[in-house]
Amino acid sequence: MPNHEAKPTPEQTPIRKAMDFAAVRDWPGYYAAVAGKPPRETTVLALDRFDAEGRRAGKAIDLGCGEGRDTLELLRRGWSVVAIDGEASAFEHLNKRVPPAVAGRVTTVVSAMEDASWGEVDFVNSSFTLPFCDPARFDGLWARIVASIRTGGRFAGQFFGDRDTWARCADRSHHTRAQVERMLGGFEHEQFKEEEKDDVDAFGKMKHWHVFHIVAKKR
Ligand SMILES: C[S@@+](CC[C@H](N)C(=O)[O-])C[C@H]1O[C@@H](n2cnc3c(N)ncnc32)[C@H](O)[C@@H]1O
Repeated sequence: MPNHEAKPTPEQTPIRKAMDFAAVRDWPGYYAAVAGKPPRETTVLALDRFDAEGRRAGKAIDLGCGEGRDTLELLRRGWSVVAIDGEASAFEHLNKRVPPAVAGRVTTVVSAMEDASWGEVDFVNSSFTLPFCDPARFDGLWARIVASIRTGGRFAGQFFGDRDTWARCADRSHHTRAQVERMLGGFEHEQFKEEEKDDVDAFGKMKHWHVFHIVAKKR
């Protein structure tokens, strides 16, 4: 008789991907899975646009900064950054990676994004975080984000679409293309990339990705 109760040996345990940790909001696991990854393309594109305009590095919010891949790039390019995340352990990773010479330009805040507030800024960066907002509080958060960005400033980040597998989770904020277009009504689109692809998690279960990758300049 096969023993169905037997625990898998370490060799049989599947290696979990970042998405497996994100699926269950295991953020410490997520940080370990993405350690050392470069900044997000949307962040880099937005920063390149500021540079192309010859603008001085200003003040940025990195909302849902995680272990800091984007915050570090903002600091490297001379920005002052308020890095916000609901998971305190994010900052154990981030603080270790911030070079002492630029540490004076970063402020770290442990806060739920739903409760976070800040003053006027030039750039709100929020990579792969807004979908984890409480849906009942998403509109309020987005209104605060838009209101905080100065004219000529930018938003960069991701929205998850209505055809994404996780759109069925009641605690996630997903949007149709029309909704994303409406939310960005006051912005010039510098990148509006809609991506759909299939992937499998570490356990062989299919995950459909439907993601909007956005870089937008406030009019
Ligand atoms: C998928 S990770 C993305 C991290 C990083 N921005 C990146 O691109 O790798 C989502 C991040 O959002 C944070 N997060 C999730 N829900 C949150 C909430 N309600 N308030 C604040 N942060 C939250 C998590 O702690 C995590 O660091």
